[in-house]
Amino acid sequence: MKHLLSAADLDRDAAVALLDTAVELAAIADRPVKKLPTLRGRTVVNLFFEDSTRTRISFEAAAKRLSADVINFSAKGSSVSKGESLKDTALTLEAMGADAVVIRHGSSGAPHRLAHSGWIRGSVLNAGDGTHEHPTQALLDAFTIRRALADDVGDLAGLKVTIVGDVLHSRVARSNTILLDTLGAEVTLVAPPTLLPVGVENWPCMVSYSIDDALADADAVMMLRVQRERMHDSFFPTEREYSRRYGLDADRMAMMPDHAIVMHPGPMNRGVEIAADVADSPRSVIVQQVTNGVSVRMAALYTMLGGAQSGSEAAA
Ligand code: CP
Repeated sequence: MKHLLSAADLDRDAAVALLDTAVELAAIADRPVKKLPTLRGRTVVNLFFEDSTRTRISFEAAAKRLSADVINFSAKGSSVSKGESLKDTALTLEAMGADAVVIRHGSSGAPHRLAHSGWIRGSVLNAGDGTHEHPTQALLDAFTIRRALADDVGDLAGLKVTIVGDVLHSRVARSNTILLDTLGAEVTLVAPPTLLPVGVENWPCMVSYSIDDALADADAVMMLRVQRERMHDSFFPTEREYSRRYGLDADRMAMMPDHAIVMHPGPMNRGVEIAADVADSPRSVIVQQVTNGVSVRMAALYTMLGGAQSGSEAAA
């Protein structure tokens, strides 16, 4: 597998193999020296046209733990602000010998363009493109669910995951729905009608307008950020009203089964889609999601650049 552009690039076996590799690589974090020589001499470019905290830092940490050379490129402060195109930026990276390009871009499809244009020869990993996909976020979420609820073993068959909020603008929701379905989980999307995308009836999931109906049998509840920066219209009356109808507060968390976990990809709008006491509660795995992002992105880079046969081989 050369590129990771969509969660749909992974069938069940490939997704489980990548999660198994991440489990082995997660053990590196407990060693005194958190480094493997696996990608020594390879160059990974983090090409970020949109802001990021978690994804950019964890891809950088992941590449460094695998001993790759890392170049961080942010559109702000680069020649992109002078009008340089994606093509010319890509040709510059190719001239510098990039073996992998991790790209975040505001335009849906930009990673596909990079992967299939012939501008670069290396692997392309999608770190979030517009409102389209964020496949490594879906992988780290699946890893987190599997670690919390399935002892790091196998797929997620039979688990119920409820994803709540601004589905319309969420690449996380799309990638998670695809990957969780691939892994056998049952997904329910919950949102006001104004925050559901056209065609959602064709996604492999159920859809509800009521959060209260979708909590009682959920094994994991994933809250989505209200993406104000992508909203050029009025999608709900007020944030207070949105929070009242769709926010996860302590009363709603009490409706979840005792074993169920609370997730959020971050960054959070505390007090809007998730109450602060819920985000900080023992049932929240939001910090673990960030930790797991490093292991999963190590596994993704290893798989794209090194060729994973098995998890134990990766961590040897
Ligand atoms: N979850 C996520 O993509 O966070 P960042 O925007 O901080 O990378």
